[in-house]
Amino acid sequence: MMKKLQVILIGLCLLFANVSCTPQESEPEKDIIIGFSQSGIESSWRKRHTESILSALKSDGYQVMYRNGMMQQSQQIQDIRAFIAYKVDMIVFTPISHTGWDAVLKEAKQANIPVILVDRDITIDDTSLFTSHIGPNFKAEGNRAGIYASSCFTSEEKSEVNILEVSGNADSYGSILRHSGFDETIRNRSNITLTIKETLYGNYTRTMGEELMRNYIKEKNIKEIDIIYSHNDEMTLGILDALDAVDIKPGKDIKIITIDGQNDVIKELKKGRVNCVVECNPDAGPYLISAIERYFKYQEDGSNKEIPREIYMTETVFSDKGDLDAIPPRNY
Ligand code: AHR
Repeated sequence: MMKKLQVILIGLCLLFANVSCTPQESEPEKDIIIGFSQSGIESSWRKRHTESILSALKSDGYQVMYRNGMMQQSQQIQDIRAFIAYKVDMIVFTPISHTGWDAVLKEAKQANIPVILVDRDITIDDTSLFTSHIGPNFKAEGNRAGIYASSCFTSEEKSEVNILEVSGNADSYGSILRHSGFDETIRNRSNITLTIKETLYGNYTRTMGEELMRNYIKEKNIKEIDIIYSHNDEMTLGILDALDAVDIKPGKDIKIITIDGQNDVIKELKKGRVNCVVECNPDAGPYLISAIERYFKYQEDGSNKEIPREIYMTETVFSDKGDLDAIPPRNY
């Protein structure tokens, strides 16, 4: 049965900029509409994350309303309200910030629309306001970066190691957990003291990474820094540009640890200009489809079973201590 709403919806969608409605070709079309609010377009990682989700939803036959908040929480809230007004069957969204979602998620609950978070998690008192979170394990990513940092020097080479941390936007769940995972791990190293000298906050973009690094070089003593721990590859590329401009050799004069694993940074790892890449998996689409299918199946069969609250995606680490020829081809 084709919902009347679908017809109205497609008409309404044409009235709104930045919205795509996509009846499907590959799988028989389902009578289920998913509203997907992405947080931005700041990185290759983010673009791949969006593609992975949209293509999985489309090829599985879901009708999709897609909107992009362009790094503005207020825009994402407006987009989610539009999904509620259209009475979509489920809302999927990537929260740009970890707080500030209570009111809009209460509205979704009152309208009986289930919500799944993808990529970043949120902090909220009433955890019944969302069904599940599907994303990378940010804390484990921070731990993996910390393990590499702890192994960079022997105690004979250095007993004091200074780290410059370049984080993403301060209020995102990923930034908070990547910091705490890293910090707790570097404290465990015996015979060497690893210290985060300073944490700078960018917004996960290349431009911001370069600007932060240029200013740091101008104002502080970069020669004191042994390791740069950057929370994403785009900022790392900007940092490399800034270091090149002052003839500091990344990978040699300063060890570089980064997160994501996008193609152009894997190339830098192979050139020896980056030392460690902690993978962050953007391919959320198949995980999301599996969760959505189970959710609607449990609704239909009346079993009222619940899908897991937390679904983590598989991730690994690539570093100059491993076999660089064995790194699988990247799609972002
Ligand atoms: O939340 C995931 C992070 O956001 C990725 O590491 C980064 O590239 C993206 O912009």
